[in-house]
Order: sequence, then C-alpha cells, then structure tokens
Amino acid sequence: MWLNIKSFEEYKDVYRQSEEDRKKFWEHEAGTFYWRESWDKVHSGGFENGDIKWFEGGKLNITENALDRHLNTIGHKTAFIFEPNHPDSFRRTITYRQLYEDVCRFANVLESKGVEKGDRVCIYMAMTPELIISALACARIGAVHSIVFAGFSAQSLAERIQDCDAKMLITNDGLRRGDKHVPLKDISDEALEECPTVKNVIVCQRTNRDIDWVEGRDEWWHMLIRNASKKHTAVEMDAEDPLFILYTSGSTGKPKGVLHTCGGYMVYTSYTFRNVFQVSEEDIYWCTADAGWITGHSYIIYGPLFNGATGIIFEGVPTYPDAGRFWEVVEKYEVTHFYTAPTAIRALMSYDLDFVKKYDLSSLKVLGSVGEPINEEAWHWYHDHVGGGKCPIVDTWWQTETGGIMISPLAGITPTKPGFATLPLPGITPVLMDENGKEIGGNGVSGNLCIKHPWPGIARTVWGDHERYLQTYMSSYKGYYFTGDGCRRDEEGYYRITGRVDDVLNVSGHRLGTAEIENAIDEHPNVVETAIVGYPHDIKGESIFAFIICEDQPKNKEDFKKEIHKLVTKIIGPIAKPEKIQIVAGLPKTRSGKIMRRVLRKIAANDLENLGDTSTLLDPSVVDEIKEGEAF
Ligand code: WTA
Repeated sequence: MWLNIKSFEEYKDVYRQSEEDRKKFWEHEAGTFYWRESWDKVHSGGFENGDIKWFEGGKLNITENALDRHLNTIGHKTAFIFEPNHPDSFRRTITYRQLYEDVCRFANVLESKGVEKGDRVCIYMAMTPELIISALACARIGAVHSIVFAGFSAQSLAERIQDCDAKMLITNDGLRRGDKHVPLKDISDEALEECPTVKNVIVCQRTNRDIDWVEGRDEWWHMLIRNASKKHTAVEMDAEDPLFILYTSGSTGKPKGVLHTCGGYMVYTSYTFRNVFQVSEEDIYWCTADAGWITGHSYIIYGPLFNGATGIIFEGVPTYPDAGRFWEVVEKYEVTHFYTAPTAIRALMSYDLDFVKKYDLSSLKVLGSVGEPINEEAWHWYHDHVGGGKCPIVDTWWQTETGGIMISPLAGITPTKPGFATLPLPGITPVLMDENGKEIGGNGVSGNLCIKHPWPGIARTVWGDHERYLQTYMSSYKGYYFTGDGCRRDEEGYYRITGRVDDVLNVSGHRLGTAEIENAIDEHPNVVETAIVGYPHDIKGESIFAFIICEDQPKNKEDFKKEIHKLVTKIIGPIAKPEKIQIVAGLPKTRSGKIMRRVLRKIAANDLENLGDTSTLLDPSVVDEIKEGEAF
C-alpha cells in the first residue's frame, strides 16, 4: 500500500521513520508502482559528486503507471476536463481509457516519423489536451520532451531547441489567451530558421487561422492520427533514463535545461501529490498552472495521473472574460481542490468582491499556493473569500529542480500559519546555513536554505552542462543541495521562505535571470550597460527595474522605453519587460568589477536610508547620482 498520511501524529511518526532509514522509506514508496523489473540498488551517489541515482537497474515505462495500470479499474473515470479559453467554446472530458488510446495513437505517429528513444522533442503548444498527449506520447516511446511555455519568443524557443538538439517540434497554428492571439506557428517558423536539427513539425489545429506551410516538414496532427493504431507497446526505460528537460532561469547566463529522469520523478511526484493534496476518488482537482512550467509537469500531468485523479486543463486566464472566471469554473465543475499562484490571487483581490460572491464555491475543500511567497493579506483573502474560512491552504514550496513539493502542509493535517510553507515532507531534510557555510541549529533562526540528503525527485543534471549543475547547486555548500532561497525557521520549527538570495527574480511567479534580461537590453544600439534588479510589487510580487547606461541621452524617454520593451519581448518574451527604467551615468561596481546589486535593489525599492556599506565601491559617488535620478 502506498503511503497516505491521515493525521498529524502519523506525519510526525512517518517523518521520524524516514529520517532513521531513508532508503527503506523510498523503497517502500517505489514498491507501490508497476515495474517491469525491480531495481538493483535503491540509491547511490550524492551531492559531493553530483552523481545521484535512484532505483538504478529498475525497468519501467512511466506511462504504464499513469495510464495502463488504471484501465481495468478506472478506465471510464474522467482523467481530464478541458475548459477552453472562452467559456462558450467547445469543452470536453477525456476518460482514462480515451487518454490512453490517444497517447498510444500519438506514440505510434511519433515512431512513424522516426522519433526514437533518447531523441528530444520540443513541445510549444496551447494548454489543451493535445499538449498533455504529446508529452505522454514522448514518454511512452522513451523520447525526452522539452515543453516550452507558449509565451516565449521565437528567439527563446530557438535557443531551447538548439540547446537540446530537438529533432521534432509539436505546436499549434495559434492560441488564444484571454483576448490575445498568439501565432504559434509563425513564431515556430521564425525560430526554426535557426534550428537545422528539426526535421518534422506537427501542427495541431486550434485557431484555424491562415499559416505558412513548409512541404515535407510540416504535417497536421489530425491527419497523422487518423489511421494510427490505438494500441502501442510502451518502450522499456531504465529508472535513470531521461524523462524530460525543462528550461529555467538561473542567476547567470542562459536558461538551463533541468533534466529529470523516469523512476525517481515518478515516485516523488506521485507521493507528494497524494499526501499534500489529499485528493479522494470523487474529487475534482484543478491546478491553474500552464504545462510549460514545472507545476504543470508535476501537478497537472504526472502526479495526478499516477493517482487516478480527475483534473482540469484550463486554457484561459483568471481575468477573461472577467475577473470571475476562476470561480465560474469552480462552480461549474464543483471543483474540490484548487491550486494556484499568489500573483493570481493578488490580481483578483484588486477587483470587486462580487466577482467571487456571485458563484457557489461550497464544493471547495482544499486550496493550494505555489511559486512565490504568499503575503498574509493574500492568504487571508484566499482563505476567507475563496475558501469560505473552511478550507486548509497548502502553501507548497519547491522548485523546477526539486521535481516536486518539498516543504508544505498536508491538507487538513498540518496546522497552517499564514505565509509559512510549514514543515518538510517525510524524506526531506531542510537545513539553514550561516554565512560561514555551517548548519544553523535550533529554532527562531534564519539562513540560506539547503537540503541535506538526496531525494528521488531531484534533477540529475543540466542538459549538456553537468559542470554548471555542480556549480549552481552543489558548490556553495559542499555536500548539500543549495536552493537559492532564504528562509526562516520560527520558534515552532515552521519554515517561511523569504525569497531568492541570488540574482534570480520571481515576477508573477515566473523565474527570470537578471543576466538574461541584461543581455537582451544590451542589444539595443544606444545601450552601453544594464543592471537589472527586482523591487516589491503589489500584484506581481516582484517587478523588474532596469538601470541603463546609454551612449546618448534618448531624445524621448517613452519611445526609448517602448523600444526596450519590444526588444525584450522579441528576445525573451513579454514577461521579462522592465516596469521601470532609469538612465544612469554609471553603475555601482566593486573594485573587482561586480555590480553591487543590493544597493540598486534598495534604490529601486525607494529605501534610500538603508543602502548599507558602499565604501568598497570603486566610485561611491555614482550612488548619489543614481539616488537623485528619476525612473520612468
Ligand atoms: C519560489 C516553482 C515561497 C522560490 C514550483 C523558489 C516559493 C522558486 C514557493 C522556484 C512558496 C516557489 N513560497 N517561494 N510556496 N514556491 N517559490 O522553479 O523562490 O518556477 O526557489 O518552481 O519559486 O521557482 P520554479
């Protein structure tokens, strides 16, 4: 029987047991899945060498655990309800059996196009069932999927395809998100000019707009699946074979391709989904994320399917056609579990409460939060107005690299506290580090958050750059995994994540690297150098502030800002546009040439009294000059 913790006492007990014998704990969890052959070794490797392996030698196909295993028991149960962008558009439900057949058909299509085990396939699609079918079909034939959020630009898409040498791209003609139209095929065509490795493009129809067509390369989804068999024998994978690559921003350089493998990721997402959300058979679970982010991978696609849950695939946005959209969907499907991001809650809080009150939300049992710290005001609004004061909030802390939830309440079991991710899941050992790289013991302390022991869901490498993996996560504190987050452990031992301590921004729950944005802005012919920092923003959590040195003073600042926005949108995507720009004569640099960002952060937040020590700057006078300047 798989672990399904039901009381706080049991949680404490299980946590203790997991600490006493980690291998036994994870072996038990893994044993609840269908493996074609069992593993030789539960676990090997560690953070010292970055050679972590779980269930090595075990043979499986992850889709047999997500789909085939359910056919005889819950084949007729709804796996997904698809809710389109516009409430009046065509909606549909898909049973486990239908999903299985669709995945098999598409797996056959992929194989017929020559995609083989180990090949990379890039998916750049609208949030529709076909996106999920594409990912699962890749997993079924052993191809490595790399889903790129369909809000990224042609250049970002091209970089990701090039980085992993994808052989195929799956996309839509276009998509609608709110009242916006995104021409996915046009963007793909532009990206593919730079991507010679892509031999085939499969286009799934969504908007029926006119698109260009490259004969011999492009094919319609609906034509290809027409005659494909609904039976497919899944390809046997080793537990440590790659499952997917997902690009995410780091503090330096280009986004990195975080790689997850089959066995450990399966065990970890399934275990965390079950215990954190406490979804039972009849429940309707809705995670509002996009499958282009890790939350969608782990808690729309994989975690819920392993557990036989019914989930919602939502194509839209929270404010279209109006700010009651989420609640209309909750009422319509009698959603019991609702998992979203603080930024969405804060955005909806700014509208009239009638948008919430209009709908019957009494079906809700559990609310979830992910992606950024949730401030107390948003927590209370969520708790009182959405949850009617009766639903526990699971504030789930985790990362693309952790594969699944790490620190979180278990719904209805762990006593919650606004703003706190509360306690680690059994099997996870968080530690706080001081500036000398030593663990800080006791409670009522703050430090940098590390994890002490490997867990099955941890990313195994950065695609094509293992050195960077070691450097980013395993070099700051030898023998530990460094998360990049600051954290407080209060008197009760509860964890509160305070935000990134590195140069990663979190804008509306999206991770962005300062270096990435700086590089994009530096492409402007009139820009000499840029420094990007984040500053607090009521709705986005954090917003982007650009300090820019220009060659010539721009004649019209508003025009200059528009040009910068256009450039950033082209190179990265609209989410990376700086909200504020200030033109400066110089940047505060140390003698070794490093930008002292903490000073800029304070200035951006208009906290001019607490700039701290600036005596180590090469030229401390630039700070006064920046303080006096004006942003626009
Ligand atoms: C932040 C998203 C506070 C954190 C799953 C982390 C959070 C980064 C929380 C990872 C939370 C995520 N409370 N902060 N509940 N959840 N974060 O990779 O800074 O997109 O390092 O994964 O988001 O973002 P990523």
